[in-house]
Amino acid sequence: MGRLCFPRCRLMRIMGWLQIILGGLVIVVSLASLYKFYKAGFFLHNEEICHHFYGVDDVYEVFDVRALTDRIGEVLDKMEKLQEKLERSVQDLEKHKDELDKTSITRLEHKRFLEQEVIRPLHSAHLSLRQIRLPRIANSTIKEEPMINTFIIEEIRKYISPKENRVGKINIYGTERIYNTIGHACTLMKKELEEYMDYDIGSYCKDDWNLAQKLMVSGCDPLPRRRCLTRASKVYQKPYPINESLWKLPDDRNVRWSNYQCRNFQCLSSKNPKRGYSKCTGCFEMEKEKLKWVTNSSLPVDFFITDVLAIKPGEIRIGLDFGVGTGTFAARMKERNVTIISTALNLGAPFSEMIALRGLIPLYVTLNQRLPFFDNTMDLIHTTGFMDGWIDLMLMDFILFDWDRILRPGGLLWIDRFFCYRKDLDDYMYMILQFRYKKHKWVITPKSKDELYLSAVLEKPPRAI
Ligand SMILES: *[C@@H]1O[C@H](CO)[C@@H](O)[C@H](O)[C@H]1NC(C)=O
Ligand SMILES: *[C@@H]1O[C@H](CO)[C@@H](O)[C@H](O)[C@H]1NC(C)=O
Ligand SMILES: *[C@@H]1O[C@H](CO)[C@@H](O)[C@H](O)[C@H]1NC(C)=O
Ligand SMILES: *[C@@H]1O[C@H](CO)[C@@H](O)[C@H](O)[C@H]1NC(C)=O
Repeated sequence: MGRLCFPRCRLMRIMGWLQIILGGLVIVVSLASLYKFYKAGFFLHNEEICHHFYGVDDVYEVFDVRALTDRIGEVLDKMEKLQEKLERSVQDLEKHKDELDKTSITRLEHKRFLEQEVIRPLHSAHLSLRQIRLPRIANSTIKEEPMINTFIIEEIRKYISPKENRVGKINIYGTERIYNTIGHACTLMKKELEEYMDYDIGSYCKDDWNLAQKLMVSGCDPLPRRRCLTRASKVYQKPYPINESLWKLPDDRNVRWSNYQCRNFQCLSSKNPKRGYSKCTGCFEMEKEKLKWVTNSSLPVDFFITDVLAIKPGEIRIGLDFGVGTGTFAARMKERNVTIISTALNLGAPFSEMIALRGLIPLYVTLNQRLPFFDNTMDLIHTTGFMDGWIDLMLMDFILFDWDRILRPGGLLWIDRFFCYRKDLDDYMYMILQFRYKKHKWVITPKSKDELYLSAVLEKPPRAI
């Protein structure tokens, strides 16, 4: 028996020890939570509890005890199940001792068992325990995060709970805690958000960027961050050098196509009725893109980059291109040594991937949010193909004021082929002209019988105040 028994006996010994350790842990956890409850006044008399937890002036007014109890219960449950499982395995081992000696569990199976059945659940229980937060008893000014009770999924609750600095220190921002932000409209899309946040911490995420984008454009923006590994193309190739990448369709292998209708860049051609997207058709055809802003077009609303830059020679160095596209404006400006950040959403086609693979910077933002740039910083804002006659006037007002905020005095706002119905033009013109920018270029031409194009280059004046 001696030699044969050796690995089995060791396994059993390990199991035995684990069982003892776990048992100890469960007891400690139970005691700790009891103690915390006790401190939180859980064992007061009934009226006192009511007074304590629901009193008007009290901190517990907004603190969800039930949710906390559930969380602790969940952890205890996990540990108990784990313990049972281990006990059962040990008993099984005892029972089938003889057979076991003949058949054999490989070391690999042993390792897998420990990893999957023991270490992982233990780790998740441990994390859950660490994440449980009781309100500070002593300080009645601290309140529980109000949105926390909207969500049941633990990972969302963890995300939106403010993270206190460690040991009472003030952080680099001079605040005591960090709030992760989440769009208020997330509460309207609980089901989708919970689906999005349902993953195993540290493992691979689902291939669901399109769900994320749907949440974002529907107003769940900002979206919570996740603690899973994003998927990438299995056959990612190194990108082309910058002297080639600007005007070349990227390697198909560098995009994950699974959530697009197309499976390669050729398929995105405007001639293909099954290309899967409708904004900026033709933007994936480099021969066409090469003509934009540098060659005469049939319409007087198309200005040359040369002419616009000549308004402020040498002054335009950085800017934002707000629209839907594949980065061609930024590519042309790069050739002029101007750095342009292009906004991009993947509306049916890999716009962000394409811009990045061309060697340019895609900024993945929606219309919902304040732009992530400081006041008076940009030399240029160019916008095309995005804002047109569908946009609500109030929304447009908020957006235009935000653009005005980030544009520096003397900076240029280039509105490129804005279009709307004839009857709406006055409203939109008022919105644009209210800022009293200097008009460098201003052209209106018919688009169709009822529609008009407007292009303009305007300069933000200095503000004396
Ligand atoms: C309670 O918190 C407030 C603000 O967070 C702080 O100013 C105050 O000093 C705290 N009081 C105690 C007793 O810790
Ligand atoms: C791009 O630059 C590399 C060296 O930096 C050079 O070897 C290559 O020929 C260039 N490609 C083109 C198309 O100019
Ligand atoms: C565009 O057309 C104008 C007049 O029709 C001409 O003067 C100009 O040189 C042309 N520019 C380019 C870049 O073709
Ligand atoms: C851009 O910068 C490079 C390097 O400084 C310079 O050689 C080139 O002439 C510049 N291009 C333009 C259009 O100014």
